Amino acid sequence: MPTEFHFPEDAFALQFFLERTEGLIDVVIANDDLHLLSPAFQAIEVLCNRNKSRFPEAIPPDVSAANSTIGAACEALLVGRREFKGAMAILKIARMGHPVLRTIADPVDDPTDPAFLEFLDDMVETMDDADGTGLAAPQVHVPLRAVVYFVSAARGGENVPLTALINPVIEPLTDEVAYDWEGCLSVPGMLGLVPRPTRIRLTAVGADGETIDKEVTGFHARVLQHECDHLDGILYPQRMDDLSLLIFRDELRHGMPARARELMGLPPETEDEEELDDAENEI
Ligand code: NI
Repeated sequence: MPTEFHFPEDAFALQFFLERTEGLIDVVIANDDLHLLSPAFQAIEVLCNRNKSRFPEAIPPDVSAANSTIGAACEALLVGRREFKGAMAILKIARMGHPVLRTIADPVDDPTDPAFLEFLDDMVETMDDADGTGLAAPQVHVPLRAVVYFVSAARGGENVPLTALINPVIEPLTDEVAYDWEGCLSVPGMLGLVPRPTRIRLTAVGADGETIDKEVTGFHARVLQHECDHLDGILYPQRMDDLSLLIFRDELRHGMPARARELMGLPPETEDEEELDDAENEI
């Protein structure tokens, strides 16, 4: 039987577990009412559902039924992670305004540390769950210089498979700047038109410990600049030069702002908006 923990009346303690203070959380069960209270508890629901399907044997059948009030709503089963190889967790994503997103992240001392590699797995699962195309460690409350991302060829340019970058450094290789829309999992629901250099040099360590050193262009270069900005406590609105083009994604139903078309070099009336519905803009 796995170890059991109970947090009566103490959602704060539960939130700490979601932020990996103990790094032990694998399964959390909450009652339906609790899910409605905050995004943190929506995350709990996801954790619960995911881990139920993966490790059904880890959940005693009577636990969820035992919860009836919000005060006694949280039953966390603290399953030793080592007992379930491959177990991952969905991490809480920090939103704009949280101090961790203004922090200059620390270098990763040992990219081969198994606990760190496990954390990268959690980042990937978190990014996947949130339909993002990139995620930086500070976005999940861990101020380390690590990024996971991929680039779909559908977004224009090359197809980049899922990649982890540890201690990445980027350097612009051109003065040429292009404008394109960016979204961010830490700025939910919004898009901004952001100018970025079109060609950069990337150096980093990969998850396999190999050194990465290459030139990158196009949307790939944009994603890397966005993610590396997270490591320096910078969010994309700080890179914008026209805040009238910081908009709610939903409002694009009224059409793309004319000024955005102009800056992107698009003709006044084309049908490119569907691209912006792609959740992979969230980086
Ligand atoms: Ni972002």
